[in-house]
Amino acid sequence: MFFGCKNLSFSYYEKKVLTNINLDVKKGEFVGLVGSNGSGKSTLLKLLCGILFPQEGEVIIKDQKLDEHNRIKVGYIFQNPENQIIGVTVEEDVAFGLENIGVPREKMLERIEWALSTVGLEGLNHADPNALSGGQKQRLAIASILAMEPEIILMDEPTSMLDPKGRNEIYKVIRNLREIGETIIIASHHYSDLEHVDKIIALNDGEIVYEGEKDQFYKSNVIQSELPFNEKIKRQFNADLKELVDEICR
Ligand SMILES: Nc1ncnc2c1ncn2[C@@H]1O[C@H](COP(=O)(O)OP(=O)(O)OP(=O)(O)O)[C@@H](O)[C@H]1O
Ligand SMILES: [Mg+2]
Repeated sequence: MFFGCKNLSFSYYEKKVLTNINLDVKKGEFVGLVGSNGSGKSTLLKLLCGILFPQEGEVIIKDQKLDEHNRIKVGYIFQNPENQIIGVTVEEDVAFGLENIGVPREKMLERIEWALSTVGLEGLNHADPNALSGGQKQRLAIASILAMEPEIILMDEPTSMLDPKGRNEIYKVIRNLREIGETIIIASHHYSDLEHVDKIIALNDGEIVYEGEKDQFYKSNVIQSELPFNEKIKRQFNADLKELVDEICR
């Protein structure tokens, strides 16, 4: 198995929030993780990258059980980029993780340049991260993870804090990441975030209730009756559209 989990269950203290989750993600796949607030998306992503540990089941990366040694292969991007930015300059921020894993200096510079250009931040090496726009900060957070050369990138609602312009910047980055064959799981409520996914995984109350094609997901009556958030996704789509039109007309 390239990446996924087997019979994963998780509770916060007494409260069970994920039940018997099985995932099988292929190399190069782009997966959308959807579900209403509190359905367990963030918890699942945190288990998949080793920030949290399951009480039952296991996470698998390249046929190995995820542990403290190989979890570096899974990159996790926080919803709020402010949580991830630590450097005084853009370059330092990307360098931080590389220093931690002992990448030699010349290799480090190469990786920094590559990661910054992949997210469209080339030339901003010496800029102050705090002076960046929201979209640029999120792209910096992606570059810092990308430079570590993870096998898979997990994004938790990467556009939820951004305006339409910032969101479009992230879509462009995702397109670039897909072109270079990165494997991505994106948790999101935004219909537009999910437009190009290969498959959708839907969580409801900590259980997988759908896994398959995106179009089928939106059509499925079962899902519509089981998942009230389907309506929310539609509304969000309309809100996205309105925002985009407003932006264009401004
Ligand atoms: N640190 C925590 N301690 C206790 N309960 C938690 C903790 N974090 C999350 N939960 C609970 O676990 C459940 C799943 O939360 P989670 O954040 O994974 O959902 P989510 O699908 O990411 O929601 P959202 O769409 O709001 O981001 C919720 O009921 C939540 O209240
Ligand atoms: Mg969440």
